[in-house]
Amino acid sequence: MQKIILKLTSIFLLFTFILITFSGCIKTANNQQSNNESQADKVATKTTGKIKIGLSIDDLRLERWQHDRDIFVQRAKQLGADVLVQSANGDSQTQYSQSQNLIAQGVDVLVIIPHDGQAIAPIVDQAHKAGIKVLAYDRLINNADVDYYVSFDNVRVGELQAQAITKLKPKGRYFLLEGSPTDNNAKLFEKGQKKVLQPLIDKGDIKIVGEQWAKDWSTQEAYNIMQNALTANNNKIDAVVAANDSTALGAVRALEEQGLAGKVPISGQDADLANCQLIVEGKQTMTVYKPIAQEATKGAEIAVALAKGEKVATNGKVNNGKIDVPSILLTPIAVDKGNMYDTIIKDGFHKLEDVYRNVPKDQWPK
Ligand code: GAL
Repeated sequence: MQKIILKLTSIFLLFTFILITFSGCIKTANNQQSNNESQADKVATKTTGKIKIGLSIDDLRLERWQHDRDIFVQRAKQLGADVLVQSANGDSQTQYSQSQNLIAQGVDVLVIIPHDGQAIAPIVDQAHKAGIKVLAYDRLINNADVDYYVSFDNVRVGELQAQAITKLKPKGRYFLLEGSPTDNNAKLFEKGQKKVLQPLIDKGDIKIVGEQWAKDWSTQEAYNIMQNALTANNNKIDAVVAANDSTALGAVRALEEQGLAGKVPISGQDADLANCQLIVEGKQTMTVYKPIAQEATKGAEIAVALAKGEKVATNGKVNNGKIDVPSILLTPIAVDKGNMYDTIIKDGFHKLEDVYRNVPKDQWPK
């Protein structure tokens, strides 16, 4: 009897084993099939579906990036692509998780305007692992295998700023108001400025009485820095080289409080509306206009080309600490009161009536 039970048990066990193994095979085959299907689906969307671009912007609270977003999205739409836009509001960690999220959502290409060019670097590898190419937009991503970079000649921007100010004040006490320390561009602007200033410093014509970096390009921070610099120097500052318009705005306010606005030349960059108004009112010397339409249009075109697996024509290379990133670099333009009309207004970047709002109508350009 015992023998029969033993025999029956072993037959049952053998049967169960065969059943499990067999169903396992079916399951694996099914999984394989569904994997293949999802791969095929992916390929199908890539070739026939709508292209999805992920656009991760450092900070949409700054006027400049709103222009970029609008033009980029518009051009992408014309090319048949959808854009998922995210703003990190000036926070590296937020930008990191937003970018991971865009990858998880299956975007075809990732376009990043980094808050911190170094902190965002690991995202590039993560995107590549998911088969997604990365375009660094306006600001470089450091120490990573970035696929492409579109921007302006940022060293040239700094040169234009310093040239405009030294033309008005070839000698004197200079204050340098630099941009965000986490933005690679800020370093390039400084480099360009120093190219122009250094020979004059060496000659003893120019003395740098202070140089400070405004966190997140903040207007409030720039105001505080300028106010402190004026106090520390008993208002004896002859010129200010400010790296962009959001910082120049804060500095002009601080100068204004001391009755110095319009007396102390000050540079900027971006052609923000408030700063263009200050320029025609004589309170800011110049801005650097970077035709954003060109950059955003190019950016959208590159993104679509990358999503389609096409090659992109470049006109330079910029080293990011790891590789020479194939780059498309556009040309910045210095703008003061004299050419405001022929550049910013004629380009339709701002309207005449907006820029000249605070100027008597009989002084408007005809
Ligand atoms: C820089 C950019 C400038 C300015 C600044 C603040 O990276 O090149 O045009 O906008 O950021 O947002």
